Amino acid sequence: MSIIASRLSRIKPSPTIAVTQKARELAAAGRDVIGLGAGEPDFDTPDNIKDAAIKAIQAGDTKYTAVDGTPALKKAICAKFERENGLKYAPDQITVGVGGKQVLYNALMATLNPGDEVIIPAPYWVSYPDMVELAEGTPVFVSCPAEQGFKLQPADLEKAITPKTKWLILNSPSNPSGAAYTRDEMKALTDVLVKHPHVWVMTDDMYEHLLYDGIEFVTPAQVEPALYDRTLTVNGVSKSYAMTGWRIGYAGGPKALIKAMGVIQSQSTSNPTSIAQAAAVEALNGPQDFIKERAAVFSQRRDLVVSMLNQATGISCPKPEGAFYVYPSCAGTIGKKTPDGKVIETDEDFVTYLLESEGVAVVQGSAFGLAPHFRISYATSTEALEEACKRIQRACGNLKD
Ligand SMILES: Cc1ncc(COP(=O)(O)O)c(C=O)c1O
Repeated sequence: MSIIASRLSRIKPSPTIAVTQKARELAAAGRDVIGLGAGEPDFDTPDNIKDAAIKAIQAGDTKYTAVDGTPALKKAICAKFERENGLKYAPDQITVGVGGKQVLYNALMATLNPGDEVIIPAPYWVSYPDMVELAEGTPVFVSCPAEQGFKLQPADLEKAITPKTKWLILNSPSNPSGAAYTRDEMKALTDVLVKHPHVWVMTDDMYEHLLYDGIEFVTPAQVEPALYDRTLTVNGVSKSYAMTGWRIGYAGGPKALIKAMGVIQSQSTSNPTSIAQAAAVEALNGPQDFIKERAAVFSQRRDLVVSMLNQATGISCPKPEGAFYVYPSCAGTIGKKTPDGKVIETDEDFVTYLLESEGVAVVQGSAFGLAPHFRISYATSTEALEEACKRIQRACGNLKD
């Protein structure tokens, strides 16, 4: 009898973390590697936020807190939802977890019965399907190819809904595609949901502040107030405030759901770190100007990467609206031969070739449910991005028919 539970056979370790690890190992072995796999801003956490954490330690703010968030943080989150999204939540409609990841996980664990279906537009963030599987639900994938801007189409949503559908997971701006819904596009989706009262929406708004070219951020409960009572609005400080290591995510939603999520958390991690919560209060209540300044830098990097990748033979790179990822197609490289005589058959072959020949680490599209693509994170220095894109151009130029 194996010591490992059978539920583990349903899931796999995060492929994005695996790529980062492989790149680290190659670098440790002396290879010149540029890692474009990581999903975190290269900027540091702002000083006012760090100072708030230091003050919290000095003030003895080092004990257990309420399981799903301190009153001060819940108050700051309520204010944020009202200020930025026009959404009114009371503190008992707010939950705080150890990153957006735990919040999403709690929600699925608290709501899914075996066989319940969760609609996941593809390409998707790698963790959604595995979390659904761990919670004994069934992921239902809807393909959203590049020709549709990687966006879910209302007719496809309608077709995917069955009596067993419990949730639709939306993520805008998206990891991995960077695609973001306009208000009209979001309204077209919420119009479908309004007709199906048994379907709830889990909206993952982690990349809210990383939107370029003046595009407005929208979230489902704001666009369609009729969905307020069946929407879980998930967000966090990781990406917007460069706080990935602090591990604070949160959500607003109906009281009964929030309470159930707190029960799951009470028997797993208990509260998120007291010090990180104090820092998150400062992040949400403190100065916000740096967010726009950093977004401007990201948008310049996006333009650079899109332009350079579109000059690589066999690569086609759409220009995304937000996040810090591009999701180019490598369809034009499939069937070609590497200088070693290996045939590129899949996007996984392509990214392996990039890593081995040029030391550029990216993640294959198959990990995100839409191939043949690959994901590049441009949350790294402009110099590194330029060099990486040159290497990709060279690698593509060296492929033979
Ligand atoms: C789409 C998406 N949702 C949620 C998360 C989780 O964020 P956190 O670091 O707050 O757990 C990530 C992180 O990569 C993400 O890309």
